[in-house]
Parts: sequence; structure tokens; C-alpha cells
Amino acid sequence: MDIEPFALERYFAKYEFSTKYSLSSSDCDGWAVTDLLKLADSQTKKMWEDLKLGYTESLGLPLLREEVAKLYSGIQADDVLIITPEEGIFIAMQCLLTKGNHVIAVHPGYQSLYVIAESLGAEVTKWQPDEKNNWRFDPAFLEKNIKPNTKLIVMNFPHNPTGSLASKEDYQQIVTIAKKNNVHLFSDEMYRLLEFDPSNRLPSAVELYDKAISLFGMSKTFGMAGARIGWVVTKNKTLYQKMATFKDYTTICSSAPSEILSLIALRAKDTIIQKHLARIKRNLALLDKFFKRYKNIFSWVKPKAGTICFPKLLTNQNSFDFCEEVRKQTGILILPSTVYGYDNNHFRLGFGRENVPEVLKVFEEYVEEK
Ligand SMILES: Cc1ncc(COP(=O)(O)O)c(C=O)c1O
Repeated sequence: MDIEPFALERYFAKYEFSTKYSLSSSDCDGWAVTDLLKLADSQTKKMWEDLKLGYTESLGLPLLREEVAKLYSGIQADDVLIITPEEGIFIAMQCLLTKGNHVIAVHPGYQSLYVIAESLGAEVTKWQPDEKNNWRFDPAFLEKNIKPNTKLIVMNFPHNPTGSLASKEDYQQIVTIAKKNNVHLFSDEMYRLLEFDPSNRLPSAVELYDKAISLFGMSKTFGMAGARIGWVVTKNKTLYQKMATFKDYTTICSSAPSEILSLIALRAKDTIIQKHLARIKRNLALLDKFFKRYKNIFSWVKPKAGTICFPKLLTNQNSFDFCEEVRKQTGILILPSTVYGYDNNHFRLGFGRENVPEVLKVFEEYVEEK
């Protein structure tokens, strides 16, 4: 398989653990195992204490699959395949696509959502949002670009990196277009359940369409990226079976401790998500004030969900040089839009972490002196 390097991951690999601060992380702070275990009920506490580090069930721990199914309406444990989130994208693309297929995928975006398709010989049309219209992905673009060989539409709401969340009408229209054209829909929902106003929460694509595959997991919303647990959900039994069989060539089965920790977290989801949302809202209010103070230097679209946004630099400096300068002078890591192959004017900020107020202060001192 010939695949180009994952630019964002390569950038993070270079700096993530050697830079003093991060102001571009997309996850909520990682939970300490001791804190998580305090949330365990008697059943999961015993499971943790009795845990043996053998192989696990290939489709995922049955109790975990049951708990995952409860996040959706009309979904059974049998529709859930436990994987690592990145693995889920890889497996789904391998099982859906072949040379000569056409794919429409959100861009800028998490690189594997379009590069794996390209590496399989599929032609990818990039579906870009309109920054002037709150980073809206216009469903009309799909109508115009669907071809007879279009096999798949890839969407991602809340969106990495812009934070864009489709309106319910637009979302419904995307699903309708996929149905009308009998096209599969891969819906990356990694930042779901972090809607600042719950009334803006979109249904999961699998609740609306039998040819949809939804991806979600513990990394972002639950602050458990190190558990490496996620899931793909689909009602399409043939595709489900194909993906489950493919997993024998990636991880075979998921990590035993991580499955139990994920089960504990899902059962305590209200406590965990409320805590994360309170932190996010506090950080977002600070960012809002920050961007108002410096509106001659940056413009931004305030997101409605998730942990990231994609401000624009209004000065003459390009965003790659800006991010490099910020990192060298302040020890703060922010991500230039060049890692998304998008342009050289934007950068990604993350606001899911506890230390955002502290880091933003350091960033502001730098901006003041500039
Ligand atoms: C939109 C999106 N999808 C998938 C992933 C992959 O998640 P994980 O790193 O947990 O495998 C990420 C991670 O950044 C992401 O932002």
C-alpha cells in the first residue's frame, strides 16, 4: 500500500511531547485511571479487579457493545464493532472502496478520511465549507458532484478542524441525497455529544440510513484517547461482517483493560460529559473575549460544538511561520492549516483542556508584543 504521510500526525509527532504547552489539542484532558475507577459500579469494579490480560472477543466486549448501542436509537449491540477510531476509518475504507470508485469527502479534514480512499485508487472530490457562512458545508455541492461511480460520501460533524456543525435541515438533506443516489455514507462523529446547546445535536447517521457507517469513540468527548477505543456502527449486515473479518488483519481484538475502562466511562457518561462541557464553555468564553480584543489580527467562527476551531490570521504573515514563531517564542503548540493541505492562513486551536486559561494568557502576551 502506497500512502502519503499523515501531515498532522507527523507535525504532532515532532512537537506534541516536547513543547511546553498545547493550544491545539482536539481531545478533552485524559482521565486518570484512579479517578475513572471511582465512577465504576459494582459490576464493572469487579470486572476490573478480576481482569486477565488475555485476548478478548474480536467484535468487542459484549457488555461494552450493549452500552454503546444505548447511545443510539434503533441500534442493537450486533450493529456495533469495537475498534480503535483510526482503525475504524481504515477498515471501513478498505471494505467499501476499490480502484475506480468516486468519493466525496469533507476538506479540510482528518487526513485519513480522504487519503486512504486515494491510496486505494478511488478518485476523491473535496467538499469544502464556506467560512463566510459559518463554515457551512452546502449539501447542494453533493448534488452537483455525484457521478454514476460515486460510492461514498464522507462527512464529519462536529467538524475537525473548523468546528462546523450542520443545521438539522442540511444534515437531513445530505442523508436524503445519499439515499436517493444509493451511496454509502461514512459519518465521522468523533466529537459528538459535545454540543454546547443539546438542541443542536444531530442524529447519528446510522439512525437515519441503512447504508451509513457512524464512527465514534472514547478519545475526544470522553477524554480517553489513550484507551484507543472506538466503534463503527452500521445496520448493513454484509458490510458489518466484512469489517469484522478485516479486523483480523489489523488488531484482531481490542485491549482488555481499555474495554472495561470504556464501559465504566460510558455508564458514567452524564457525569463525564457535563464536566467536560463546563470546562469547554468556560474556555470558549475566554476565547470569545480574546478574539474580540484582537479582531484586527484574527477572525474566527465561534463553534457550536466540539473542542476545536479554525481561526484565520489577518496579518501578512503566513500561518505556518506564525505557528513556528509562536512555538519557538512561547512554547505553545498550535497547528498551521498547511498540515490539512488547506491554505496558509488558518490555524487550529483546541479548547478542551483544563489549562487553556493559563496558556491563553501566555499566547496573549505574545500577541500583545507582536
Ligand atoms: C475527525 C477525527 N476522526 C478520527 C480521529 C481518530 O481518532 P483516534 O486518534 O482516537 O484514533 C480523529 C483524531 O484526531 C479525528 O479528529
